[in-house]
Amino acid sequence: MIAARSIPVVVAPMAGGISTPELVAAVCSAGGFGFLAAGYLSEEALAEQIATTRSLTSEPFGVNLFVPGERSDVDLEPYRRRVEAEADRYGVAAGPPHWDDDQYQAKVELVIAERVPVVSFTFGAPEKSTVDRLHEVGAEVVVTVTTPREARVAAEVGADLLCVQGMEAGGHRAVFDDDERSAGGGPLYGLLAALRMVQAEVDLPVVAAGGLVHGADVAAVLAAGAVAAQLGTAFLVCDEAGTQPAQRSEIASGQRETGVTRAFSGRPARGLVNRFMTEHGPEAPAAYPQLHHLTKPVRGAAGKAGDPEAMSLWAGQTYAQARPLPAAELVSRLVEEARQAVERARGLL
Ligand SMILES: Cc1cc2nc3c(=O)[nH]c(=O)nc-3n(C[C@H](O)[C@H](O)[C@H](O)COP(=O)(O)O)c2cc1C
Repeated sequence: MIAARSIPVVVAPMAGGISTPELVAAVCSAGGFGFLAAGYLSEEALAEQIATTRSLTSEPFGVNLFVPGERSDVDLEPYRRRVEAEADRYGVAAGPPHWDDDQYQAKVELVIAERVPVVSFTFGAPEKSTVDRLHEVGAEVVVTVTTPREARVAAEVGADLLCVQGMEAGGHRAVFDDDERSAGGGPLYGLLAALRMVQAEVDLPVVAAGGLVHGADVAAVLAAGAVAAQLGTAFLVCDEAGTQPAQRSEIASGQRETGVTRAFSGRPARGLVNRFMTEHGPEAPAAYPQLHHLTKPVRGAAGKAGDPEAMSLWAGQTYAQARPLPAAELVSRLVEEARQAVERARGLL
């Protein structure tokens, strides 16, 4: 399904209100492909987003789900005290640091019942029985991977396609098991390296994600074997994205470094470096989604106040090159640039 689209550009799922039905519909109607982000959404809210997207486009689109991980029994008290101090500062109460499964099973049932044609998974591989049920209703199953080992696991459960995520990527790293001894939760492979290693490991079509912001980048990953390029940050500043104003202006000013942190959610994720990340990141335990719930009121209050220093400003390494355009216009520029890049490369070979 993804490989058959006329334009090999995918707008990444971006949870937390960024992936709107309008954004997904605009990219799909332009000939690309897009995913709604089911992460953090209730089953009802996801159903509503699917219906709205269907009312905006007759083209197919996908849904992305967070695979629940193991419940960590790490002591959260020291980190809770830090976040409580932040909560005082922003005039809110810290959230309850509970573990939950993000209504995973209910959302799996929903995408099956709704016959969503492409379902992608991150933070792990679904069970083989889930993949089998999705196949029974004709869905294509995508699993996001960061290493050849994860690619092997995804292939074993029957994935049709892999989304290979390089360490350049904005947002959460897709690592299956967050290794707390490593800042990135596992090996930090750059996208081209990851693509090469994954393709050597398994014989499945791959979509490439991480730091792609220009059409020449799209051409590069197609040349490296991908069937499509998945871009998140490049679409963050599109008109249709639900990105908050403070995040848009930080992206536009392009002044911050990006870094990988567990500070906000307990899982490694790449975002613009700010005060919260610098002060708390090194102390943050590997406890997802407990930290996500704990810090949620602080992030929310900071966002409302337009204060970028305690928001999770997820963005990939190339964020400063993101262009604030309508999504369809961005898609057509990416295609044009990719064609030019291919021509240029052809002249060199
Ligand atoms: C704000 C933001 C939110 C994201 N949320 C999700 C998500 O819900 N599910 C997912 O699989 N990936 C998510 N990602 C990661 C993307 O799928 C993709 O790997 C990444 O955007 C690629 O790197 P780029 O941002 O440099 O283009 C998110 C990325 C960003 C920037």
